[in-house]
Amino acid sequence: MSPSFLDSLRGLCGDGNVLTEPEDVIPYGFDGTAAMKAPAEAVVLPGTTAEVASIMRLAKAHQVPVVTRGSGTGLSGGSHPVPGGLVVCLVRLNRILEIDAPNLTLLCEPGVITADIDAQCVPLGLFYPPDPGSQRISTIGGNVANNSGGLRGLKYGVTRDYVMGLEVVLADGSVAWLGSKCVKDVAGYSMKDLFVGSEGTLGIITRVLLKLLPRPAARRTLLATYRTLDDAARTVSDIIARPIIPCTLEFLDRKTCHCVEAFAKVGLPTDAAAVVLMETDGHPAVVEDEATAMAEIARQNNALEVRVAANAVEAAKLATARRSAFAALARLRPTTILEDVTVPRSRLPEIVRFIEETAARHRLEIATFGHFGDGNVHPTFLTDERDKAEMERVEEAMSEIFDYTISLGGTITGEHGIGLAKKPFLSRQFDTGSYRLMRQIKQSLDPGNLLNPGKIFD
Ligand code: LAC
Ligand code: ZN
Repeated sequence: MSPSFLDSLRGLCGDGNVLTEPEDVIPYGFDGTAAMKAPAEAVVLPGTTAEVASIMRLAKAHQVPVVTRGSGTGLSGGSHPVPGGLVVCLVRLNRILEIDAPNLTLLCEPGVITADIDAQCVPLGLFYPPDPGSQRISTIGGNVANNSGGLRGLKYGVTRDYVMGLEVVLADGSVAWLGSKCVKDVAGYSMKDLFVGSEGTLGIITRVLLKLLPRPAARRTLLATYRTLDDAARTVSDIIARPIIPCTLEFLDRKTCHCVEAFAKVGLPTDAAAVVLMETDGHPAVVEDEATAMAEIARQNNALEVRVAANAVEAAKLATARRSAFAALARLRPTTILEDVTVPRSRLPEIVRFIEETAARHRLEIATFGHFGDGNVHPTFLTDERDKAEMERVEEAMSEIFDYTISLGGTITGEHGIGLAKKPFLSRQFDTGSYRLMRQIKQSLDPGNLLNPGKIFD
C-alpha cells in the first residue's frame, strides 16, 4: 500500500484512526471462522458517512480493494482481509440516531451492537426480534450484510424482514439511500434487499433503518428431553402442524447439551439424546394455550421430561445457555468448524441422521445443534487443524453433507453466509443462470472489483 495512499487516509480520518503497525492490525485478520486467517495490512476506522465515501473514492483512485467489517463475529470468513486491501472497520459509527415510535422504526449507524438495539426498545414497549447467537458482540451492519438469523427466526423471520432502508456508499464513493419509512413502497426495484446479505461485495452500509414491533406482553419457555432424535423432530413437526408457530424451537444433541451444561450450568440434562428448547410469546392467554399444547405434544412424542421455566430469569438463563453453544463446544478441541446447513423442515431427521452417519464413517467428532423450527442445523466439527489427515476427512465429510443437503432441497447456509468458507460450494447449489445473474449484478455495481473481492465467488 503506497505511503501517499496511507497519508491521504490519515488526512481524511485522523492519524489515530489509521492502523498499520503489525501488532495493531493483528485482530483484524480474523473473524469467528476456524482455521482461517489473513493478515491485515492497514485498517481505517472512519467516523462519518462522508469519511467512508472519501475513503472509497481514494481507494478507487489508488485501485485498493476494500473489506468492510464490524466486530468480526462472522462465521464464513466474509470479512477476512484481502491481499493489498484496506480494512474499513465501522465500529466508530455506533450511534442510534432516532427511534420513531409512531412509525415503529429505528435509525442507526452500522456499528451499533445488535443487542443494544432491542435494549433501547424495551422501555418504549417496542421489540427488535432478530437475535443472532452473537448478539452481544455483533454489529447491526454485519447482521444486515449477512442477513443474520437467530433463535426467533421461526416466528419473526431474519434481519432482512426488519430492514426498511439503508444508506450505502457505492464503489465509486457516491452515497445512495435505499428504501423508506413507508410500510408499503413499490417504487422501482427493491434495492435495499439486494444489499441485505451481500456480504460487503456491493457497497458499504453506513445507516440502517429498522422496523420495530410491539413488545410481546408474555412469554413462556419450555425444555423437553428425548431418548431419540426422531421423537424430538416429530415434536417440532407436530407443533407446527397443530398449527402453532412458537418464536423458538431449538435443538441440541447430546454432545452439545453436555458441553453447554458444563459451561453454563443451567440444569440441562446430559444423558438425553436430544433436547428441544421452545418459547412462545404474545398475548398472555395465547401464550398459556400454546405452552399447554406444546407440552402435551412433547409428552405425546415420548418426552422424558418437559420442564417449564418458572420465571423470566430461568427462561433467560436457558436461552443464554443455548446461545453459548458455539462457545461451549469450542472448548473441547483446538479447532471448531461450525456449519450452517438448512433443509425444508420435514427433512430434518434425514439430515441429522446423515450428519451422524457421516461423522462415524469419517471417524470425526461432530456435535449438532440449531434452529430446528427453521430446518437450520449447525453440524459443528470438533477437530484440530494441525492434524492434516483429520482435516482432509473434515473436508470430505463437509462436502458430503453439503451435497446431501442440496439433494434434500436445502441450502449450504441458512444464516452465516458464503464468504470464503463456502465459496467453493456455491455453484453446486445454483443453476448456471442464477449463478451468472449474481455475477452480473456484482459486475455492474462494482466494475473494478474493489468491494470485498474474492468473497461469495471469484
Ligand atoms: C447459533 C449461531 C452459531 O445458532 O448461528 O448459535
Ligand atoms: Zn444459528
